[in-house]
Formats: sequence, C-alpha cells, structure tokens
Amino acid sequence: MRGLGGPVGIALSGSGSALPRLSVSNDDLSGWLDTSDSWIRSRTGIAARRIAAGDETLTVLATRASRQALEAAGWTPLQLELILLATSSPDDLFGTAPQIQAALGADNAVAFDLTAACSGFLFALITAAQYIRTGCYRRVLVVGVDLLSRWVDWHDRSIAVLFGDAAAAVTLETCDSDRDGLLAFAMRTDGARNGCLTLPLTPSEQCPRQGISIQQGSYGSIRMNGQEVYKFAVREVPAILAEVLDQAGVDAASLDWLLLHQANQRILDAAAQRFGIPAEKVLSNLAHYGNTSAATIPLMLHEAVAAGRIRPGHLIASSGFGAGLSWGAALLRWGGRQPG
Ligand code: ACO
Repeated sequence: MRGLGGPVGIALSGSGSALPRLSVSNDDLSGWLDTSDSWIRSRTGIAARRIAAGDETLTVLATRASRQALEAAGWTPLQLELILLATSSPDDLFGTAPQIQAALGADNAVAFDLTAACSGFLFALITAAQYIRTGCYRRVLVVGVDLLSRWVDWHDRSIAVLFGDAAAAVTLETCDSDRDGLLAFAMRTDGARNGCLTLPLTPSEQCPRQGISIQQGSYGSIRMNGQEVYKFAVREVPAILAEVLDQAGVDAASLDWLLLHQANQRILDAAAQRFGIPAEKVLSNLAHYGNTSAATIPLMLHEAVAAGRIRPGHLIASSGFGAGLSWGAALLRWGGRQPG
C-alpha cells in the first residue's frame, strides 16, 4: 500500500463477463411449474436464464470474467492491487475472492468479498473507488457474480422464474482528475424492511451433552414479498438517481445510458419514464439472463461495451437495488478503450 496522496481520478477501463452454458427458457420452466411464457414475459420481461452446471462454480465463472476484463484493460494479473468480489452466493462462506486471486495468479493483490445482494456490484465499485481516490491502490478489479440458482426453490413459481447465474468484472484505475469516471454516488440501506427479501439462516439446535446447547443452522431458499420489493424499487430508484444527477449538476437529457440492476423490465421502464429517458437509451438484457443479482450491472455494461454501444466518454446513470433492503446509484463515465 502507498501513502495517502491527493484525490485522483478513477477510470473504468476494462470489462469482461462469463455465462453458464445451460439456457433455461420460460417454456422449460412451464414443464414443471404452473406458469407460462406469456405470464413471465408480460410481468418481468424475462424469456430465459442461464443456470450453472457442477463444473461452473462461482470461482470458475468469476475468474473467466476477470481474465477478460484484465485483458481489455491491458493489465497483467501481477499488476492488480485489490480484488473486490460482490456476491451473495459464495463458494466459501469464509470468502471466495482469495480463490479468484489464486486462479488469476494475482499474487500482489489483496482480495476480499463484499455482500449486498443486488446492490453488491455498485457498492463494491464505490468502495473500490475510495481506495483509488485516496491513492492507496492504482489498479483494482471489481467482480459481480452470483449463482442464485443455488438458493432458489425451483418449485416456487413466484421465485424460480426471476433469477439466473452470471459473472462480470470491471477494472478501475488511477487517471487524471479531468477524466474522472465516478462523478457522483449515493448508497442507502433500510434494515427495517429486511423481511421483504431474505435468505436467512434456519436455526437448528445441537446438544452434544446435557447442559450444552449449540445454535447451528443451514441456509434454505430465497423468500421474497415481490409486490413490496417492486414498490420499493419504483419509489427509491428514481429518487436516488435524481440525487446523484443533482450532486453532479447533470441533466437527465445529457445521459447517454441508463444502466439499472436488471430485475424487471417494468422497473426499468418506470425509472426511464420518470426522467423522460427514451427507450433506446435504457440498457436491458434481462430477456436473456433474468436477474443475476450482483452480476446484472457489469454484465450489461460489458455487453454494451463489446457491442460498441457504450463508447469512451459516455455518461451512464446506474442504480442497483435489492435485499437488505439496499440501494445505490452512481453517475459514471466510461473510460475504456474501444474494443478492436
Ligand atoms: N406464473 C404464473 N402466475 C404466477 C407466477 C408465475 N411465475 N408467480 C405468481 N403468479 C400468480 C400469483 O400467484 C398471483 O395469483 P393470484 O392473483 O391468483 O393470487 C398472480 O400471479 C399475481 O401475483 P403478483 O405477485 O401480484 O404478481 P406481480 O404482478 O406483482 O408480479 C413479480 C410478481 C414479477 C415478482 C413482481 O412483483 C416483481 O417483479 N417484483 C420485484 C421482484 C424483484 O425484482 N426481486 C428481486 C430484487 S433484487 C435482489 O436483491 C435479489
């Protein structure tokens, strides 16, 4: 770690993603759930989702996405100084980021996990940016990855249709302050509304000997009050986006892209409508992948960069929201090189 210097700029310089091979369509789900393609499409905008197979662990997918992001940034793994892994479905509850560090051969980096469900990537990006801003680290990798298929009750139609698995990563590096890529941000949590969306420990008591009671437990499956989460998102996402636009003194009309957590097309449409942002500026890929939790924002970002839609200098308003409850927003400027 270096000594603290003055504030510096943060450049979002490279991106990558990795998807499981298996695509499960709405019709596939209708094979065992009382649901239909038309219900799922009309209520959520989702048509299919990817589901990880046994060899596609969280570490494997995250490492693939990370390698691609490093390559796009033109870095070697040894140049990395920090890896922040946003996930709520780790391979190891003690932390999975060090396994990714080892798989990459990023021997000079420190790596740790950060958990904030679907807000995880944005919270991790903002956290990583602070290390760069203060001069501690110059090259940071932020990974958003979730395999929520591990925690979905595949016989609960109200949950099973929503989620999918994916990994994606973005590199952040020091740059001149006039090229700064993080123009404003805000983060919020409200634990009083935690019950709307949880994956709680189910306790079980072990008594190895009389007089000794040990509280153990295991994780079950995701529980959600969909309507409450929906109402929360359509209220809080526009409010926090308005806050970051105001912070930066930027008008919604100047935005090149709206890049929201991909949970439901109706949430995306409601937020866009609030700011008068036309549909062609609203990034959406949830038809193909569903809600991939911490991965949705970098996955969509990478797809748009690779397709030449997001270009260097473009202004992006982003918001993540989900369990906690937690939500956040950032005004970003893409600084990466144009893919060849
Ligand atoms: N197929 C068919 N019918 C269904 C299905 C399904 N998959 N799921 C629910 N239904 C039924 C319900 O049983 C209900 O039937 P009833 O009227 O006979 O009781 C009816 O459809 C309507 O159910 P609602 O829950 O009112 O449907 P709604 O229009 O609210 O849509 C949805 C549900 C899609 C879950 C919506 O509330 C939503 O998207 N909420 C936000 C969820 C979300 O984004 N969660 C993730 C947050 S991010 C994170 O951190 C993980």
